[in-house]
Amino acid sequence: MELLSALERELQQLDEKSLRRRLRVAETPCAPHVTVDGRDMLAFCSNDYLGLASHPLLVEALREGALHYGVGSGASHLISGHSRAHALLEERFAEFLAPHLESPRALYFCTGYMANLAIVSALAGRDADLFSEELNHASLIDGARLSRANLHVYPHGDTEALEGLLKNSKAKNKVVVTDSVFSMDGDLAPLPALLALCEQYGACLVVDDAHGFGVLGANGRGALEHFGLRSPYLVYMGTLGKAAGVGGAFVAAHETVIEWLIQRARPYIYTTAAAPALAHALMASMDIIGGAEGAARRAHLDALIAQLRGALKLQRWELFPSHTAIQPVIIGPNDETMRAAGVLYEQGFLVPGIRPPTVPPDTARLRVTLSAAHTAQDVGALASAVNLLETFA
Ligand SMILES: Cc1ncc(COP(=O)(O)O)c(C=O)c1O
Repeated sequence: MELLSALERELQQLDEKSLRRRLRVAETPCAPHVTVDGRDMLAFCSNDYLGLASHPLLVEALREGALHYGVGSGASHLISGHSRAHALLEERFAEFLAPHLESPRALYFCTGYMANLAIVSALAGRDADLFSEELNHASLIDGARLSRANLHVYPHGDTEALEGLLKNSKAKNKVVVTDSVFSMDGDLAPLPALLALCEQYGACLVVDDAHGFGVLGANGRGALEHFGLRSPYLVYMGTLGKAAGVGGAFVAAHETVIEWLIQRARPYIYTTAAAPALAHALMASMDIIGGAEGAARRAHLDALIAQLRGALKLQRWELFPSHTAIQPVIIGPNDETMRAAGVLYEQGFLVPGIRPPTVPPDTARLRVTLSAAHTAQDVGALASAVNLLETFA
């Protein structure tokens, strides 16, 4: 078949450029010590920043949720799939983000990818001007394509460039979208300056806090708490498969925005609601994030970040200036990056090599992520292995 041979050729080209991706099978729960493809490994690759993905209280809450609600929702939210578990969780998110939003309401989504498609396509219609940060996550980029709005991509962190674009915009509806913590670099968007511009030019600011929710801020409320922001212009998206340890996502914003999403967001309307048991488990996750245990886990994670940054002594490779749990080691060439990831793998460390198109050409990297479930010994062992590897690479 013509299609199959064309695909084979393309796949071969991926191999030649060291760009072919491979699936690995994990046989144990998400934790620092995992068994992958039958090998025991020390993992630095999950986004389980607080170490909640296999927390006994969450496992118990999921079991309890399944006993109470069953295992499937059976329908989309607007038909009959919207359970009490979803409704309670949404109230909890609205309350949690209340210090940062006006008249807040929240909506729970199956995934962050779908939440981003929903927000961008429902808020920015054909006549809107959409301003998207250069390094935004793929789901925001795909949302922009789906929206058919006039798309303006502004350079990474460049608020002056954004202001130039906003100034020239004649559109009544202006939407700025940005990641808060950039997923491949770990740095933070200049949210206070972005919000000030949005308020000045009457644009709404969509913040994708996938890597900040639960981790940033004294109470784990995320990037808005970290920067002390509050505004009716904010539309906040937090994912729940990372620090919250379960899965799904939520959008919190002014109640009118949420009502509009319920009416118009196709990735919300035309899909079966997530299992109510997941929403029930997320309530246990929220108890931990907002309580003393969450604060202790965030403090431990901060100590591990400082330890890793102090222990890595790199000459040719570059430790990106990030103060979040995402600590990328930039190597550059794809083949050298994949060799480094391969040697670490052989030594029992699971650290993903990230290549284009996920990151710009010539900036392939080891994406190290830390979790509160790691110990200081785990981090020390990784730092020694990476230091040695760079010397002999
Ligand atoms: C910045 C960012 N936004 C959105 C998503 C999508 O979230 P989800 O995995 O829940 O689909 C991710 C990662 O998966 C992400 O890193």
